[in-house]
Amino acid sequence: MIKKKLFTPGPCEIPPSVFKAMSTIEHHRTSQFKKNILEIQKGLQYLFQTGQPVLTLSSSGTGAMEAAITNTFSPQDLVLVIDGGKFGERWGEISRCFGLEVITLQIPWGKAVEPSQIENIFEKHPTIKGVLIQACETSTGVAHPIEEIARFIKEKPNTLMVVDAISALLTMPLPMDEWGLDIVVAGSQKGLMLPPGLSFIALSQKASRFEAQSKLPRFYFDLKKEKQSLEESTTSYTTPVTLMLGLKEALRLICQKGLETIFETYNLYSRVVRTTIEAWGLKVFAEPGAPGMTAVCAPRNVSGTHIVKKLKENFDITIAAGQEDYKDKIFRLSYMGYIEPEDVFYLLESLQKVLLELKVPIHTKGVLEKAKSQLKL
Ligand SMILES: Cc1ncc(COP(=O)(O)O)c(C=O)c1O
Repeated sequence: MIKKKLFTPGPCEIPPSVFKAMSTIEHHRTSQFKKNILEIQKGLQYLFQTGQPVLTLSSSGTGAMEAAITNTFSPQDLVLVIDGGKFGERWGEISRCFGLEVITLQIPWGKAVEPSQIENIFEKHPTIKGVLIQACETSTGVAHPIEEIARFIKEKPNTLMVVDAISALLTMPLPMDEWGLDIVVAGSQKGLMLPPGLSFIALSQKASRFEAQSKLPRFYFDLKKEKQSLEESTTSYTTPVTLMLGLKEALRLICQKGLETIFETYNLYSRVVRTTIEAWGLKVFAEPGAPGMTAVCAPRNVSGTHIVKKLKENFDITIAAGQEDYKDKIFRLSYMGYIEPEDVFYLLESLQKVLLELKVPIHTKGVLEKAKSQLKL
């Protein structure tokens, strides 16, 4: 078996059949390609658990975040940004760039927002037009309580619940229609098992009403135009054909497995990784942690970046260091994408070797054996 090397929260490992599907080129305006677009649309609606159209944009995930803002809000609209890390901060940056008024709810890195904090802010600012949040804040590995917050926002006809699911889609349930999420954005390079380059966005009916009144300028990321193109089973501009062919195959694999099984797999992987980290005597950083990744507090006297470097040097494994102030304080393990139980075990086994080489005082007795049996290997 070829060993997987990429355990970062994007880009992620890609299945061989997806690589194969991408090894060809087609013209994007043919009737055959229209069939591909229709099939892809069905798969995306299944992933997003929505009856609304899911639009595919040619950009990394940030493009869809920008499109969410420019297509639904107007200058001076008041939005609430949940800023618990690098990507929460990005919602604030994009909003300010387009002239929105921003209230920032600063959450300590590694912690999730409490729904009551949001409710309290609404008491003082009932005119908030949007709550902008991450389902998984990738810089810290935290999962925010999306369902509870959405329940509160659902009752507010003049407020949108805008969810960045870029690192969450497929790793945890986020049923858009059932939970009443108004905008969901995602990217291709995480749970979807594709290279970077595509982003996705879906709007609820409430968000479409906002869209009709939004006054911000937009050109390339014009969702109304994209929706019209999709109705004709095409895209407004030249779509990245090879990525789309890969997407079609990735969706086939995902639908074959089923969302429930995929969520269970991520739950298993994160449980095994977390129990192993704790059994070694190390500390998991995020509370509560998202299922697709685990951020780990660096051991005393060893920096996170050093562990990242050693895993690369010794095993050619890539994991992610922390970001900003947490660059050396944490390191992040991810098992999003095409990762099987053997790969998770290989990651843990290699990490244990690195920790021992760095003379980190960890307990090892029976730890990997337990992980192996939890992974049913
Ligand atoms: C939660 C989250 N939001 C936004 C982004 C930005 O996406 P991109 O780098 O694809 O533009 C990322 C990327 O890691 C992410 O994990």
